[in-house]
Amino acid sequence: MKETQSGPYVLETQHITKEFSGVRVLDDITVGIRSGEIMGLIGENGAGKSTLIKIICGIYQPTSGSVSLEGTPVEINDYIKAKRLGIALVPQEFNLINTLTVWENMFLGNEIITATRLLNKKQMRSRAGKQLEELGMPLDVNLKISDLSVAEKQQVEISKALLLNAGILIMDEPTTTLTGHEIRTLFTLMRRLKAQGVTIIFVSHKLGEIKTICDRVTVLRDGKLISIDEIADINEHDIARKMIGRDFTQVFPKKKVRTGDDIILSAEHLVSGRVLKDVSFDLRRGEILGFAGLVGSGRTETAETIMGLRPLSAGRVTVNGKSVHIQNARDAVDLGIGYLSEDRQGKGIVQDFDIPQNITMISLKRYLKNFLIDKGTELEKSSEYVRKFNIVAASMKMGLRFFSGGNQQKVYLARWVDTNPSILILDEPTRGIDVNAKKEIYDFIHSLAEQGISCIVISSEMEEVMGLCSRIYVMKEGRVTGCLEGDRITEEEIMFHATGIQGEVFDER
Ligand SMILES: Nc1ncnc2c1ncn2[C@@H]1O[C@H](COP(=O)(O)OP(=O)(O)OP(=O)(O)O)[C@@H](O)[C@H]1O
Ligand SMILES: [Mg+2]
Repeated sequence: MKETQSGPYVLETQHITKEFSGVRVLDDITVGIRSGEIMGLIGENGAGKSTLIKIICGIYQPTSGSVSLEGTPVEINDYIKAKRLGIALVPQEFNLINTLTVWENMFLGNEIITATRLLNKKQMRSRAGKQLEELGMPLDVNLKISDLSVAEKQQVEISKALLLNAGILIMDEPTTTLTGHEIRTLFTLMRRLKAQGVTIIFVSHKLGEIKTICDRVTVLRDGKLISIDEIADINEHDIARKMIGRDFTQVFPKKKVRTGDDIILSAEHLVSGRVLKDVSFDLRRGEILGFAGLVGSGRTETAETIMGLRPLSAGRVTVNGKSVHIQNARDAVDLGIGYLSEDRQGKGIVQDFDIPQNITMISLKRYLKNFLIDKGTELEKSSEYVRKFNIVAASMKMGLRFFSGGNQQKVYLARWVDTNPSILILDEPTRGIDVNAKKEIYDFIHSLAEQGISCIVISSEMEEVMGLCSRIYVMKEGRVTGCLEGDRITEEEIMFHATGIQGEVFDER
């Protein structure tokens, strides 16, 4: 029977199968996308979402099956062809060149040429600026990518994809690096595009987002198509159940009641560069301490300063009662401090290293035997982490670039755990992590605290800091504006200290 309601699909994958070295990661996926709809795509880490998207964009070729546009099978040999066909991608892992500016990156491969065959820099600059402004992302187009925060890099990727006026826009986890406010701006934009007839495929791990913005939702599990539902017919709980194949309720572990009061780390009036103006806080043994605030409030910079990655211009850091001078990350590691950066790709994992190499990078000394790396122990220990964190990997020996985003994040966490830190700073630790794996990571952070390890959790997900932390420092414009504890931990209080605005609550939708 022919679809009467929406005619032929604007885009359809037909019986797509994809294998990598004989391992099947997509199995017979047939999904039709209606013109002008927002289709959600959800599934656990490693379920095959990005792979499916990359096939639609011509980055990978299917092992079998095909892609049709408006009912006609098309050969999409590469991304250039996809773009010509009106398909644009906001990739999960950024594709930006660090040494180039924002506008140069936006027009890379689509340069505007003057009548005399020169680059029309002036026009590109102004169009890039206009584009960002239209998207509600005020960013200086002349900045180099290397000077941007992760959220800003994400904004460049989104604007870059939208420059092409594509009819089909595919967004692979575009909201993971954005805060509530930015997500709302993005959703407004998505609705506007939809009204203009753009068809959108939207990947997210956040059930609330899928429910809010999508018309339908497709669930993948272990490379198989589980379901396609009208969003009105399904609730968040059902989506989660289909994703993981069993009942699920996301729960935070019961909050740990702090026992000891000894202060393991204290920061007094830290100043660094132009960003950090005045930051003081105490971290107690075995506590899970939260840092909340808007993007740009200085939370990451605080962590980087403690970690010796930024110069301390004024102020004092004390570890175990002793004043310390941390000049670089090695000093910090030697003091037992670990830092999981929010910038997993830029400052975290090494794409060409395999799992053991990525995990033991910092703790390598422990694996040396007669000046050689004891490969056996290294592999054994790494396998232990793979089990513990449920890392989905076809092979331990594969470079991390072949791993799904969520699994890369887990490997990165394993690296820091392997340094046996007494203080672990986790910056957006569950970014890109599916709901089920999130719970595993929360439980894990909790168990670290139980062992007396002090954890600092920086997170833009209100629910996460609130559910996990016993105390929360809130930052605004480079200063600590409040410390909340007990009953005072509410969304309103956090937002008040983060923005100075009373009453308005930002949520993730
Ligand atoms: N180039 C590749 N070579 C080998 N295996 C690959 C390659 N790309 C992806 N895979 C494997 O395919 C599976 C699906 O990965 P994919 O990136 O599509 O997952 P995902 O659903 O996007 O997960 P996440 O939510 O973590 O981003 C994973 O097991 C991954 O290791
Ligand atoms: Mg992915």
